[in-house]
Amino acid sequence: MPLVHLNVFRGTPQTEGGYVGYDVPVEEGMVVLDALHWIQANEAPDLAVRWNCKAAKCGSCGCEINGKPSLACKTRMSDFGPDEAITVEPLRTFPLVRDLVTDVSWNYEVNKRITPFTPPTDGDQADWRWQQEDIERVQEFRKCIECFLCQDVCHVLRNHETDRPFVGPRFLVRTAGLEMHPIDQADRTADLKDGGVGYCNITKCCTEVCPEHIRITDNAIIPLKERVADRYYDPIQIAWRKIRGGRSGTGGGSRAGESLPVLPGGSSTGSPPSDGAGS
Ligand code: SF4
Ligand code: SF4
Ligand code: FES
Repeated sequence: MPLVHLNVFRGTPQTEGGYVGYDVPVEEGMVVLDALHWIQANEAPDLAVRWNCKAAKCGSCGCEINGKPSLACKTRMSDFGPDEAITVEPLRTFPLVRDLVTDVSWNYEVNKRITPFTPPTDGDQADWRWQQEDIERVQEFRKCIECFLCQDVCHVLRNHETDRPFVGPRFLVRTAGLEMHPIDQADRTADLKDGGVGYCNITKCCTEVCPEHIRITDNAIIPLKERVADRYYDPIQIAWRKIRGGRSGTGGGSRAGESLPVLPGGSSTGSPPSDGAGS
């Protein structure tokens, strides 16, 4: 059975920490999480690894594998060359707990700041109706498994700017799913501005690492940026609202008549691009 060399980060916040090498026998079909389990079973029973489903669905095994934020249970050992060493590190954006485990609780605090789904209070829920295309539009955002790989790779958060009011790509995805929901009535545009959507410079790094292939930048962040720009920075939209005496509403629960009509051939402020183009 061929051996593959893994360099695994070991340490705690109280210790200096460093990389420990392990030679792991590799069988066909193994993923990096299997190799970590082999290390736990045979060489280092105290190696800390967070995992749960081993099916790329719980989002808990996120780590950095050869520098790329990845799910250990979705990264195949066969993705690496036979003589290639594999380095496994914790998510660097978040505080270290031990070895490969980090404290991602900051994300759950951010999540609490997002205005939840706000349906209409009048009428019967049984009477709610919306179109299939509206469902398809938000379906993508509901695929998020909260692995926080996108949060890890985002340079705004990675540069330890989490004390600044930037919620990060995962929570822009959640906000987009709510804002584009056809019957949601809340208006999160001011929160988006305060939440620092302007910090994002659309590098698409978050999209590249998302294991659910959510087009985070094209389909979530860019439409949200457009909403903030329309509300706060577009003089024509501002003048139109003054004339109409309302706010600019581009949300799923659209406030009809408040936003400037889109000219033929112009871009809709609320529609995500249909393909990967757009930034
Ligand atoms: S596209 Fe924006 S949110 Fe995504 S990683 Fe880049 S800066 Fe962060
Ligand atoms: S958007 Fe993608 S990368 Fe970010 S937390 Fe959700 S599943 Fe993970
Ligand atoms: S163990 Fe659940 S996503 Fe990897």
